[in-house]
Amino acid sequence: MSDQPHSADWFGEQRDFWWNRDFLDLMAARWRLHEAASLADVGCGLGHWSRLLYPYLRPPARLAGVDREPRWVAEAPERFRHAFPHVAPELFSFHQGDAARLPLADDSFDVVTCQTVLMHLAQPLEALREMLRILRPGGLLVCVEPNNFWNYLAFTSLTEDEPVATLVRRFEFWLRQHRGRLATGRGNHSIGDSLPGYFSQLGLRDIAAHQNDRPAPLFPPYASPDQKALVAQERQWKNAATGPWNKADMRELFLHGGGDETFFENVFANIVEKYHGEQQAIANGKFHAGGGNINYLVSARKP
Ligand SMILES: C[S@@+](CC[C@H](N)C(=O)[O-])C[C@H]1O[C@@H](n2cnc3c(N)ncnc32)[C@H](O)[C@@H]1O
Repeated sequence: MSDQPHSADWFGEQRDFWWNRDFLDLMAARWRLHEAASLADVGCGLGHWSRLLYPYLRPPARLAGVDREPRWVAEAPERFRHAFPHVAPELFSFHQGDAARLPLADDSFDVVTCQTVLMHLAQPLEALREMLRILRPGGLLVCVEPNNFWNYLAFTSLTEDEPVATLVRRFEFWLRQHRGRLATGRGNHSIGDSLPGYFSQLGLRDIAAHQNDRPAPLFPPYASPDQKALVAQERQWKNAATGPWNKADMRELFLHGGGDETFFENVFANIVEKYHGEQQAIANGKFHAGGGNINYLVSARKP
């Protein structure tokens, strides 16, 4: 996984099922995207997010994507050409760059946005200030960021009969991972909770917080396209001895989060066992879950 560009594991087909179209219609109306004719997507990856927003803008709209990974910057334009064959190519541009030093001019966009990017940064406020620098006064800032912690707490068909002590120990395990991530500057996977406060600290106006209305449920026979994509992604990880997790990495985070070795070994084993149990239950048609997925959409205007 280490020779892969950032987020490569997360750009599979399941990413196409993150949003309900009618929910985006509602958000586009609330944000008055039809008044905007330019958008910058920070940490754009392959452009999954900005391709969804682009059709709501006032044509002919300009779009710029920035990502620090050369591979995504190289591949994103073709995705846009394919999605919008009738839009003049000079309206799209993709740039390699860091969220803390965007290669874009001051006050030059009507909308500046990111999706699941601030969560990876050691200094998210620095990136937010940079996003505000390129946003024109009165322009709209939209950040879509999760609380991923919740996904570890949500109940499933397999947790119903587990002892309270087991559930509490797993809770502590994930909390220490979270604290360790913060302590080592590896981001905050639940940063969505903090964004309204950050926006207020930055002096923005019209701050609003909403939530994506789409969880990721799984229930037999897992036949809908979104569930098939989810099960396929899980299957990719299935054969690894420790599921989707890198044990050394997790141990490091756990210890930095104030945990001890014995606790780590015991609970990590439980977590891997739980993961394989879920895979087995899916194969047997016995697994079901509501799917958690708290994704905030936090928006505001630049004064
Ligand atoms: C989870 S992906 C999200 C991609 C895209 N926003 C989407 O929703 O499909 C995170 C992206 O942020 C990029 N990234 C991470 N740190 C960055 C930084 N410091 N500056 C710019 N991009 C960064 C990664 O390369 C990756 O493409």
